[in-house]
Amino acid sequence: MKIDILTIFPNMFTGFLSESIIKRAIQEKYVDIQIHDIRKYSKDKHKKVDDYGFGGGKGMVLMPEPIFDAVNDLKTKDSKVILMTPQGVPYKQAKAYELAKEKHLIIICGHYEGFDERIRTLADMEISIGDYVLTGGELASMVITDSVVRLINGVIEEESHVKDSFNNNLLDYPVYTKPTEFRGMKVPEVLLSGHHANIEKFRTEESIKRTKERRPDLLEKR
Ligand code: ADE
Repeated sequence: MKIDILTIFPNMFTGFLSESIIKRAIQEKYVDIQIHDIRKYSKDKHKKVDDYGFGGGKGMVLMPEPIFDAVNDLKTKDSKVILMTPQGVPYKQAKAYELAKEKHLIIICGHYEGFDERIRTLADMEISIGDYVLTGGELASMVITDSVVRLINGVIEEESHVKDSFNNNLLDYPVYTKPTEFRGMKVPEVLLSGHHANIEKFRTEESIKRTKERRPDLLEKR
C-alpha cells in the first residue's frame, strides 16, 4: 500500500514514521508513506498557501490551487482521496478495515481556520476522528494511517487485531478564498457583497443546513 499525506507541517510526522510498528511496516515494505509539503505546490514566490476568507472573519483559509495541483500530481487510477476535517464521517474500526484493502490513499490535512470549500470536491471521503477540533488534520491523518497500517496483512499477527474492540452542536459554515471562480466553481455572491448581516444570515443557514444533513444527532442535542 502507498499512503501520500499532504500537509503544511511535514515535520510533525518525523516521530510518527520513525518509531514502532509504523517504522517496521515501512522497513519491511508493507507500506510506502510519503509526506508532501503543500508549499512545494505553491506558484507564489513566497510559497503562500493560504489567504483571508471572503466575507471576513478570523483566520486564514487554505487556497484550492496548491492542493488541487498536489492531488493531480499524485493521483493514480487506484487512489482514494481522504480529507481530514471535523465535518467528516466519524471514523470507526470498520472504516479502517475497508481502507486497509485499498492500494493507494492520498490524505489531505486541513489547517488554521479552514480550507477553501472547493477543496472538498477533490475528496472521495471526508473523515473526522471525533467531535473535537484539532489545530490541524495532521494528528488525525496519523490516527487514520496508524489504524490502517496495523491492519495490512502481515504487519501484525492477525490474532492481535481480530479481538480488537471498539458545544454549540453546529457544524461550521463553508468558507472560500481567492480566486472567486475556480474550475467553474463560484464563491457564493453574498460573501462578496460586504453586507455583514446577510453574510451572517447565510452562514447561520448554511451551518444549520449542513448540520441537519450531516449530523442530525447534534441538532437533537441542542
Ligand atoms: N482537523 C481538525 N480537527 C479534526 C478532527 N476531529 N478530525 C479530523 N480532522 C480534523
